[in-house]
Amino acid sequence: MTIQWFPGHMTRARRQIEEKLKLIDLAIELLDARVPLSSRNPMIDQILKGKPRLVLLNKQDLADPKTTSDWVEYFKEQGLEALPIDASSGTGVRELVPKSRALLAEKIEAQRARGVNPRSVRALIVGIPNVGKSTLINRLAGRKVAITGDKPGVTKGQQWIKTQDGLDLLDTPGILWPKFEDQAVGVRLAATGAIRDEVLHAQDVVFYTLKYLAPHYAGELNERYQLGIEPDKLDLDNPDDVVALMEGIGRKRGCLISGGRVDLEKASQLFLRDLRDGKLGRISLEHPGELG
Ligand code: G4P
Repeated sequence: MTIQWFPGHMTRARRQIEEKLKLIDLAIELLDARVPLSSRNPMIDQILKGKPRLVLLNKQDLADPKTTSDWVEYFKEQGLEALPIDASSGTGVRELVPKSRALLAEKIEAQRARGVNPRSVRALIVGIPNVGKSTLINRLAGRKVAITGDKPGVTKGQQWIKTQDGLDLLDTPGILWPKFEDQAVGVRLAATGAIRDEVLHAQDVVFYTLKYLAPHYAGELNERYQLGIEPDKLDLDNPDDVVALMEGIGRKRGCLISGGRVDLEKASQLFLRDLRDGKLGRISLEHPGELG
């Protein structure tokens, strides 16, 4: 199970973002609150070259609230302000402009001191595919915006999307690529739906995801699928124990084939749908305390 990370993609994406940096005051780095590090491009610091930055932890409606606040602390320790939001419903989005202005306070003050009326804050949203860039742009614009595809080397035709509160957004978000040399990162991205289902086998994704979830979210799994998990009694290094959980889920969801056996493929697909739709509750797939 390997996924390729294409350096060509990254070089092109990087160049496109670099062209835009001179046009903006602030970069808005959009991450998935359930997997803030896996959904992050590891070269982001070099790419943004010290531009003031606001981190947004999107899809917080699906993430574990306690873990999300631990991530906010984690980013604070790295000197970055992180704001949990839900671009779909708009939760937290109202704080974006005041937080952006606060980050640019010195620049705005310097403009005032020179007698210049501070203009709107100009920002670029960057993030990996599916993290919610278009949803956020539409939310901030208060209407459905036709987000144009990016063409290398073309920044002249760039349009600004004016939002109500004095934030101007570039209409083309910066698309970054996750780096999934680490298999665990690929699994987390697949589990959240950030990478297409054809890329990894659903059964592999569910196998590894359950290994993480069973000790952390036993209550949620037991409640939805009546698995009777007792975290102390699980031996997750034994693949049979993990497969038994998959079978339990399949039985509960009626994924049976001849002879009463469980259709693991169907069970895995249904489980992923439940997880992504928040049917298990609010779940995070990585925690800052477990980095290592
Ligand atoms: P992108 O531009 O970064 O590629 O992402 P996009 O906005 O297209 O969002 C990808 C998917 O994530 C969409 O779902 C979108 O509705 C969903 N989404 C975005 N922000 C949030 C959020 O804060 N919470 C939740 N729960 N979902 C969010 P989709 O199923 O691909 O499309 P749709 O039919 O829902 O629009």
